Amino acid sequence: MIILGIESSCDETAAAIVENGTKILSNVVASSIEIHKKYGGIIPEQAAREQLKFIIPVIQEAIKQAFHLSIYPSTHLSIDAISVTIGPGLIGSLLIGLETAKTLSFAWKKPIIPVNHLIAHIYANFLHYPCLAGRQASSINFPALCLIVSGGHTELVLMKNPSQFQWIAGTRDDAAGECFDKCSRLLGLGYPGGPAIEKAAKKITLSTISNQQLAIKLPRPMINEDNFDFSFSGLKTAVLNLTKKNRPSYILNHKSLIAYEIQEAITDVLVVKTLKAAKKLKVKSILIGGGVAANQRLRDKFLFAIQQLINAPIKLFIPEKKFCTDNAATIASTAFYNYQPVSWQKLKPNPSLTIN
Ligand code: KG4
Ligand code: ZN
Repeated sequence: MIILGIESSCDETAAAIVENGTKILSNVVASSIEIHKKYGGIIPEQAAREQLKFIIPVIQEAIKQAFHLSIYPSTHLSIDAISVTIGPGLIGSLLIGLETAKTLSFAWKKPIIPVNHLIAHIYANFLHYPCLAGRQASSINFPALCLIVSGGHTELVLMKNPSQFQWIAGTRDDAAGECFDKCSRLLGLGYPGGPAIEKAAKKITLSTISNQQLAIKLPRPMINEDNFDFSFSGLKTAVLNLTKKNRPSYILNHKSLIAYEIQEAITDVLVVKTLKAAKKLKVKSILIGGGVAANQRLRDKFLFAIQQLINAPIKLFIPEKKFCTDNAATIASTAFYNYQPVSWQKLKPNPSLTIN
């Protein structure tokens, strides 16, 4: 089955064509991030206008690439269904992708499958990409614990089989990605904060940290609590207090070190709490997804933690970095494994969609 995926929940406009949930025939992403960088964050109205500009060219390009065409075809018979993000996300952005998908469903007489963007982040692990040829969906053992770490969400979800989910825990306040973004802003490192903090932190190696610098220590919120919840607003407040208590020149001179410690704190909490839940729930695999999963330090720490589990091994799956951030291949894959077409007349965006 060949599915066209459409994603427009935030600042990326994406279309992809995926065969049988795993084989990517095309994957096209246009981003308006350069515009938002100027303002230090996403302006919803601006994001929606950019979605409108990109949506048709991006879908056309995905179709051309998938079927090796030099010009846009007049028929689309080889596409079996259309899948589209219905939430969560920005209402203006969501509407552009959803209304386009509904129009195509009507015009092409193809079924349409609504997709939860959060769940789609997990299906990035089901995509078969050439550089990880051996790792296909079939090698994921269930039950699996999924950690979704994006700009607005930090959730632990139990995946009982390829299409059955149960929400376990989440953040009580800020998401991990939000914490990266807010802390980056406090340090004047720009938007998006995750990649900016990761880049600044790379300048630090443990051998270059002096004792005095080690005095910069940030909290690891809820790391030792006997539950699976997260909380990141206290960490952001600790960084705010640090910037208020110290002279601007001190902050400027220690920017990389503070960025390093922020990254250490966030990644420590994510790894420790996910592993705690994985052991308690006796899962066979851990799947990670969402923009923060592109963080190399997080990837390394998860790999190290998994390698320590000698007596009760758990398989670890982390998508290739370009499939951690928003794209439409994950939308098409999700639709394949959760094939529930809905009449286009019934589809409405849901900006605050959750996982039940
Ligand atoms: O999944 P995503 O692309 O969009 C949402 O669904 O929100 O995630 C965006 C989030 C942002 O908060 C961004 O700062 C974070 O992912 N992010 C990263 C990295 N790349 C993106 N966080 C840490 N390290 C990265 N390399
Ligand atoms: Zn996302």
